[in-house]
Amino acid sequence: MNTPADLGAGAARRRRLADELAAGGHLRSGTWRAAVEAVPREVFLAGRVYHPVARGGPRWWEPMTPERVGRDYWLDLAYQDVTWVTQLDGTDAPTPERGIPTSSSTMPSLVVRMLEDLEVRAGDRVLEIGTGTGYSTALLAHRLGGDLVTSVEVDPGVAARAAAALRATGYGPHLVTGDGLAGHQERAPYDRIIATCSVRHIPWAWLAQAAPGARVVATLAGWMNGSGLAALTVAGDGTACGGFLPGTVSFMSARAHAAPPPRSRLPKRDGDARPARYDAGLLDDWTVNFLAQLAAPGVSMARVSRDGAAFETLLTEQATGSYAWLTADDGGTVIQHGPTRIWDQVEETLASWDGAGRPAQERLTIEIGADTQAVVLDVAGRRRSWPLPAPPR
Ligand SMILES: C[S@@+](CC[C@H](N)C(=O)[O-])C[C@H]1O[C@@H](n2cnc3c(N)ncnc32)[C@H](O)[C@@H]1O
Repeated sequence: MNTPADLGAGAARRRRLADELAAGGHLRSGTWRAAVEAVPREVFLAGRVYHPVARGGPRWWEPMTPERVGRDYWLDLAYQDVTWVTQLDGTDAPTPERGIPTSSSTMPSLVVRMLEDLEVRAGDRVLEIGTGTGYSTALLAHRLGGDLVTSVEVDPGVAARAAAALRATGYGPHLVTGDGLAGHQERAPYDRIIATCSVRHIPWAWLAQAAPGARVVATLAGWMNGSGLAALTVAGDGTACGGFLPGTVSFMSARAHAAPPPRSRLPKRDGDARPARYDAGLLDDWTVNFLAQLAAPGVSMARVSRDGAAFETLLTEQATGSYAWLTADDGGTVIQHGPTRIWDQVEETLASWDGAGRPAQERLTIEIGADTQAVVLDVAGRRRSWPLPAPPR
């Protein structure tokens, strides 16, 4: 916990962080600035973060604690504009060195940018999905008072640490341990809903628990790693419409929306080969990646290098066993196998995007009806829509 000396040193660092976030255009209002200057992020890091280390792959981590790095450096890192991983593989094992991040303290610029984008007004009832460390929850509670803030975290260990940090800092939001995809009916309706884990579609429960005119800010993401920060307004009947905010925002997936684990063996390069009309390299583009995912929502993407050769792109749809290999052979070849012609679907979508003048993601809109959810591209009266993989309402 913080010593009296830490409190003073933390305050100076918080002011510097607020200046930096304001200069970057992320922090845009005095009310959120007051919250950033008040909430001690180091308390929410709960004494341990994981720093990535290069050791032959992206999954190696080194634990950092105040004892290991010294109190001063610990305070420095708490106020860096960095996402700190706080849990790996959903376990609280004391010193794991390998794993996939399952909880983190999101970089402050993104936290405040989303809070600004949420357009919170005094008196708003806010539902947050993904309490994580509790840092963003504390900012909300500072701004609105704990009574108006409900935050849901799926992982009991993460939730317990957040609860302790919130208690220690004197904030009293309503905390729920459970699946945030179900919202929290008991405290509904909500005027604002914000998610700090990504979703493949907007959960129907959020819409049902939203007050008329409520605003929802959440990242829509999928199994090809495409992502977009969505902002929606909910109508009185639970339908909603909105669009994508600028920037390249991504979040770890809500647990039930995560991609299935990859198969341990790569599929063969058997199938129907043809020249690719669009190059796999195009998938590195933010908007193209997102559109490709809309075209093939059950498909996961991997970049594979065989024997140190150039990377190939592998798209797989586990539900049907379909796959598409994209190689650089003969200036770009696709080999497709199985009932879903994955690259045909992606190319058909990219052709309509091309025909519309290659608009950026912000030109797409989101339409949520009585029982369907879709992303829509409407350019010069030519309308194209892609359903999101939402279950029936
Ligand atoms: C990026 S972290 C949250 C960052 C947090 N807002 C902060 O400031 O520290 C995402 C969190 O979402 C949680 N999460 C994942 N799936 C969830 C679900 N279905 N319901 C609630 N929380 C979920 C994860 O356990 C993780 O703690």
